[in-house]
Amino acid sequence: MNMRFEPARALSGELDAPADKSISHRAALLGAMASEPVRIERYLQAADTTSTLHAVQALGALVEINGEGVVVRGAGLREAREPDGPIDVGNAGTLMRLLPGWLAAQQGRSFTLHGDESIRRRPVDRIAKPLRQMGAELTAREGRFPPLEVRGARLRAISYELDVPSAQVKSCVLLAALAADGATTVGEPARSRDHTERMLLRAGVAIHRNGRHVTVVNVDELLLEPIRIPGDASSAAFLVTAGVLVPGSRLLIGDVGVNWTRTGFLRILRRMQGIVLGDLEDETGELVGEEPVSDLDVAHGALEGTVVEAEEVPLAIDELPLVALLGCFAEGETVVHGAQELRVKESDRIAGVVEGLRGLGGDIEATPDGFAVRGSGGLRGGTLDSRGDHRLAMMGAVAGLASREGVEVLGMDAAAVSYPSFVADLAGLCS
Ligand code: S3P
Repeated sequence: MNMRFEPARALSGELDAPADKSISHRAALLGAMASEPVRIERYLQAADTTSTLHAVQALGALVEINGEGVVVRGAGLREAREPDGPIDVGNAGTLMRLLPGWLAAQQGRSFTLHGDESIRRRPVDRIAKPLRQMGAELTAREGRFPPLEVRGARLRAISYELDVPSAQVKSCVLLAALAADGATTVGEPARSRDHTERMLLRAGVAIHRNGRHVTVVNVDELLLEPIRIPGDASSAAFLVTAGVLVPGSRLLIGDVGVNWTRTGFLRILRRMQGIVLGDLEDETGELVGEEPVSDLDVAHGALEGTVVEAEEVPLAIDELPLVALLGCFAEGETVVHGAQELRVKESDRIAGVVEGLRGLGGDIEATPDGFAVRGSGGLRGGTLDSRGDHRLAMMGAVAGLASREGVEVLGMDAAAVSYPSFVADLAGLCS
């Protein structure tokens, strides 16, 4: 579905961010691995997280949806049922990477995971490697891509260093570690989001972090307290960007998750002189269980270019398209380094952002590991192809509101992957 976004007058109003996608996936998966029912409040009802509910149902968990909440009656840590056919993860990369962590521990049972056209281009060798070291058998198309077949085994604990910082791969190993013999340690080259660690800590699992290493000890069974999902900082980032870019705007976005590992974008934006007030979590030396939330108070203002270094990238990975958009409106140059991971997201996001924003009049070029934008006093407008990628679709919509002539977004329906009410929420802020 194509949709046109006309230049907006000032945006104003208050709304809550939609529930967090990453935390919803984890709550449903850990719920399915648990021995007692788990109540999840404010579960994200979007395409990706619905795929997760369907997947855990196919594996023997019972799911009851009541209003904004979900109750998951788990199958148990080692008792996932072998389903009749393949599990369809849809567009959900997080599901494709996390679920095999649980499946790897299902001794003697086999599972096949597949998904949509975008999923079939996204590498899974990064999870196959550690899970094989733990003892499971995995087979992927061309050794790298879905469909992925997992044959479960009795797992052994490992020490594993990730090649690229990835919360998905780290989480996969941590889930497998719950049913492995002994203590597993995962190291990553830079910090990435730590929702899995926090949820496991709250579940009473012996888990600790030492700098960039996390160690988890296996458990006999998993028991979880009720989980409340905070608002999604990545979804909120699109509203924040609209508020910062459209002259005269003032927005209050409520209930946003402000876990330090998710607020890299807000720190980059503040460095660009963007006006965002909120009570952001400071870097946590120790692992904490809480997922802190804050309201964000956003106002339009003039921006300056900035340089984003590789260390910051995992902390703002899904918001980097917005950094490029902001760069078009900023004074001077905005450069993102160390972001080659963007090539294997829901689409090649370096190509999608660079071609998309150029088509709207932006002065941006791809670099081997990111992009460089020269501020051009804003964007003319035009047509932007979402490439079926939710984050590119929403970036295009925000670009339209801030542009001089408006933007037609091709494939706006992709937003339903993470933020189904995005267009309605934006319209509410524009009226
Ligand atoms: C996610 C981690 C990120 C992010 C994705 C969600 C997660 O991927 O891009 O949208 O929920 O763990 P990587 O950390 O694997 O790059």
